[in-house]
Amino acid sequence: MSSVGKNIPHDSARGHVSGESIYIDDIPPARNELIVDFFFSPVAHGRIRSLDLEAARRVPGVAALFTHKDLHHNRFGAIIQDELLLAEDEVTFIGHPIVVIAAEHRDAIAAAKKAIVIDIEPLEPVFTIDEAKKRRDFIGPVRHIRRGDVDAAFASAENILEGRWINGGQDHFYLESQAAIAHPGEYDQLTVHSSTQNPSEVQEVIAHLLGLPINKVVVQTKRMGGGFGGKECQATHPAAMAALVAHVTKRPARIVYNKDDDMRVTGGRHPFQNDYKVAFRNDGTITALRAELFSDGGAYADLSTAVMARAMTHIDNAYYIANADITGTVCRTNYPPNTAFRGFGGPQGAITIENILEEIAVHLGLDPFDVRKRNLYGFEDRNTTPYRQVVRNNMLPRIFDQLEKTSDYRARVADVAAFNRKSETHLRGIACTAVKFGISFNTKFLNQANALVNVYLDGSVQVSTGATEMGQGVNTKIKQLVAEELGIDPEMVILMITSTEKNNNTSATAASSAADMNGGAAIDACVRIRERMENVAREHFRCSFHEVPWTKLVKKCYLERVSLGERGFYSTKGIDWDADSGVGSPFLYFTQGAAVSEVEIDRFTGHMTILRSDLLMDIGKSINPGIDRGQITGAFVQGTGWLTNEELRYAPGGELLSHSPTTYKIPNIGDLPAIFHVDTIVNEENTVNIRGSKAVGEPPLLLGISVFMAIKNALSYVSGGRIPKINAPATGEEILMRLTAAQVPGGRTAGAPAVLGAAAG
Ligand code: MTE
Ligand code: HPA
Ligand code: MOS
Repeated sequence: MSSVGKNIPHDSARGHVSGESIYIDDIPPARNELIVDFFFSPVAHGRIRSLDLEAARRVPGVAALFTHKDLHHNRFGAIIQDELLLAEDEVTFIGHPIVVIAAEHRDAIAAAKKAIVIDIEPLEPVFTIDEAKKRRDFIGPVRHIRRGDVDAAFASAENILEGRWINGGQDHFYLESQAAIAHPGEYDQLTVHSSTQNPSEVQEVIAHLLGLPINKVVVQTKRMGGGFGGKECQATHPAAMAALVAHVTKRPARIVYNKDDDMRVTGGRHPFQNDYKVAFRNDGTITALRAELFSDGGAYADLSTAVMARAMTHIDNAYYIANADITGTVCRTNYPPNTAFRGFGGPQGAITIENILEEIAVHLGLDPFDVRKRNLYGFEDRNTTPYRQVVRNNMLPRIFDQLEKTSDYRARVADVAAFNRKSETHLRGIACTAVKFGISFNTKFLNQANALVNVYLDGSVQVSTGATEMGQGVNTKIKQLVAEELGIDPEMVILMITSTEKNNNTSATAASSAADMNGGAAIDACVRIRERMENVAREHFRCSFHEVPWTKLVKKCYLERVSLGERGFYSTKGIDWDADSGVGSPFLYFTQGAAVSEVEIDRFTGHMTILRSDLLMDIGKSINPGIDRGQITGAFVQGTGWLTNEELRYAPGGELLSHSPTTYKIPNIGDLPAIFHVDTIVNEENTVNIRGSKAVGEPPLLLGISVFMAIKNALSYVSGGRIPKINAPATGEEILMRLTAAQVPGGRTAGAPAVLGAAAG
């Protein structure tokens, strides 16, 4: 019986629609439960001169207030332990928690916040990468990836271009805000329900901050209403605050951020500012790249150094770069710590080279598709990354060839040019960009997973792994893998709540590899259960495993006292990475793809619409094509949001102004491409990963870059042969300003009338 490769419905599909799916705040309040919230720094940088909580303590309904003094430890951090859960004498970002408030009801929380008397001496904040560079205020060491002789390549270059790539941040905009409920148990034990991608880290940090052994804390995650990387590290803070309250008061404690606070106090995707210099031949072949990557890490390290490492290992994207000198520096600023976000630095690296390729094409007057194709990784040669990993199972040339035909690229380029010659009101652009995304955590030890498989007397099966479900469908995929391995109907398999009690020391559900790794661990368990069952079949029924009905065999195993449960383990083989030398093969394989997008811009307003997008991905042999189609579609749309309308705006004091859906524009149905083709290639050759599948969660986000490059392509029609510059996000405002600058002789940013005049004239 084969269930792998089938479009089995998402295991929460019905519950999400009916409302039966349980999120943190759907858990009914326990008797005696306290509501938890926190008072946070109103300034981006300052020294706390005094803090007076007396009046707040007297507010009716307030049960307890806590500061850093109430914690056993206050300092933690996934990579660098530089983060203080509760501010001590210095505050370093707006949103930095200072006081945890526990109360009987919400009114008391609001009143307590008002009654807190705090005196903060303002200190000079750092809000830009440039300012952090000036102060040399960096997080972690400056990293390098180097290959070949860049100086020699520049000295003999046929062409050289220099420039700067700038992109903004992005809010995760998961629909379920950060949330946790902590239940005190006997002898200082705690059970915590957390909306987290990383139950083991939540468990470990709570134990550390409260001074408990890890085994006294159980963390459970049923599901998240979206994570997108935002709950890989930063679900820890609310869970720790609820745990602190439960631990001290011995009462259940619940914290659920409201949307505005969630957007204000949590970090998001890293803004980058990358300086580049590229050498290339007259045919567009890149011969050397020097790139200095700078990210805005925010106030604490969080995962910023790992995000930078992924940016650096993705600046090649789909293209061979013989001589490379890549530098990565994380800048410390007074914004909330930036963190994992779908793509994990990969998008910021890849868009840098895609932007460079677009500029090379304009400079040489060549078609950007041809320039990209010329630079694609090869098969026998030109197939090693700047960090020396061999690109195996390379599907990029095939994807480009297929997409060129199916998207009708050549004819549409001609159509775009004709349209732009004719239209006085609108401008069109078209672009093809690629993705080659490395799958595996770029921290070697994280590439492990374990699973627990229990078979019950009626033949039904429970599976527990460290993977957390956030909508991406990992439960459904593991269900299919287990059903196939045991030769049973997937209806007989249920994925149970993720709990540190069943699966210990697990990695975050991240790096797109949860199904790969946890599915691998579940299969490992199934293989051993099956071996035992095969023996029973042979011995007691004198036939093979498949010839005995499943439930009959299960019962027999039980009667013969043969174990029907097993724990499985998986670790990714053959990967290594040396961050100091910037050399290694950090990825098990690459998920690849490409997209062609066409956009139309209103020359009077800068408003952009996506006319058509054609996506083509290699995801190997899909475990569940329907779920993967959803992942490709959703990731692409999230990528376009980052690069177009999702703009984080701050007041001069560092206060986030766009902290709700009214001021922060995520894509909606009207922002989708009018014509939208989502396809995968047939890749029967893939054997590297579990059942020949390839991870899909993050890679297609990078195809959103095709929309941005189509905008850049449109601008090239009015730039008079010069390279049009545009930063991300390309909001209507950004596009209009660039249009103005491009069209006014001499490139002045002279304002709208010139655009109107030019368009009308
Ligand atoms: N899909 C949905 N619906 N919701 C999410 O939060 N997160 C993405 C991706 N797809 C996300 C999602 C991110 S950032 C990652 S790393 C992967 O899912 C993680 O799950 P996987 O490893 O099972 O693909
Ligand atoms: N992706 C997501 N999370 C991570 C990674 C990664 O590559 N490395 C360390 N944490
Ligand atoms: Mo995804 S950014 O690895 O959680």
